[in-house]
Amino acid sequence: MFKHAIVRTPCPEMIHGITSSKLGKPDYALALNQHKEYVEALRSLGLEITVLEPDSSFPDSTFVEDVALCTFGLSVVTNPGAASRKGEQIDMEMVLGSFYDSIEHIEAPGTLEAGDVMMAGRHFYIGISDRTNHQGADQMIHILERYRMTGEKIEINQLLHLKSGMSYLEDNNLLVQNGSLNHPAFYKFRKIKTGADEDYAANSLWVNGTVLVPAGFPITRNNIEQAGYPTITLDVSEFEKLDGGLSCLSLRF
Ligand code: GLY
Repeated sequence: MFKHAIVRTPCPEMIHGITSSKLGKPDYALALNQHKEYVEALRSLGLEITVLEPDSSFPDSTFVEDVALCTFGLSVVTNPGAASRKGEQIDMEMVLGSFYDSIEHIEAPGTLEAGDVMMAGRHFYIGISDRTNHQGADQMIHILERYRMTGEKIEINQLLHLKSGMSYLEDNNLLVQNGSLNHPAFYKFRKIKTGADEDYAANSLWVNGTVLVPAGFPITRNNIEQAGYPTITLDVSEFEKLDGGLSCLSLRF
C-alpha cells in the first residue's frame, strides 16, 4: 500500500512541453484544475501528498514520475533522456532526502526515465526507449540487485515509455494496450485489455486497490471494473496533449 505521493504543480511553460501528439497546446488553467482533482483523488485513497511548487525552468516538470524510482527503502534518482528534462531530478533529490536514507543515481552515459520502469512486486520491467538506454537500464538493474530486487530489460517500439503501453494493477493483473507488446516476459500475467481505440488508457494507475482511469475510455474502465477493481475517472486531457498520463503525474511510495 502507498502512504505518500509527491506531485509538482504544472508551470505555465508546460504549454511548451515535449509532445508527439496532434492534440494541440494544453490549456494551462484547465491543466491546473485537472491537477488539483488528481491530487484530491490520491488524497481520497489515503495518501499524504507533498505538492511541489511549479518549476518554470522545466516545461515537463509536472511529470515527476520520470525523475526518480521510489521503492522498498530505496529511491533511485534518474538521468532523464530528454535534453530539456536533464536537471529536473536535482530538486527532486532534495525532496526525496526527507523520505529516504538510501538514494542511488543513474549516471551518464546511462539515461533512464522512470516512466519506463514498471514495478511488479520486487521485480522491475525496464523499457528500452528513446529516453532510456541500455546503460541506464543496466545501472538500474545493478542497483536493484544490491537492494535484493530484480529487473529486466524490455525493448519497446512506438511508445514514449513502457508505462505508456501497460500498467501493473497488482494481483497478477496487467493492463495492456489491445493488440500490442505481446512480449514473453508478460505471458505469466492475466491480461486486462484496453478498448480497441483506447490505447491511451493503458496508462491507468493502481492506488491502494482502486484504479484511476483517464476520462473518455469507457471500454477500458469497464474491463478494469469487470476484473474487480473500483475505479475513479479523472480528466487528464491537458496532460495527454503532452504525451503524459496518470502515472507520470506522481511518485508514489
Ligand atoms: N511531455 C512529457 C515528456 O515527453 O517527457
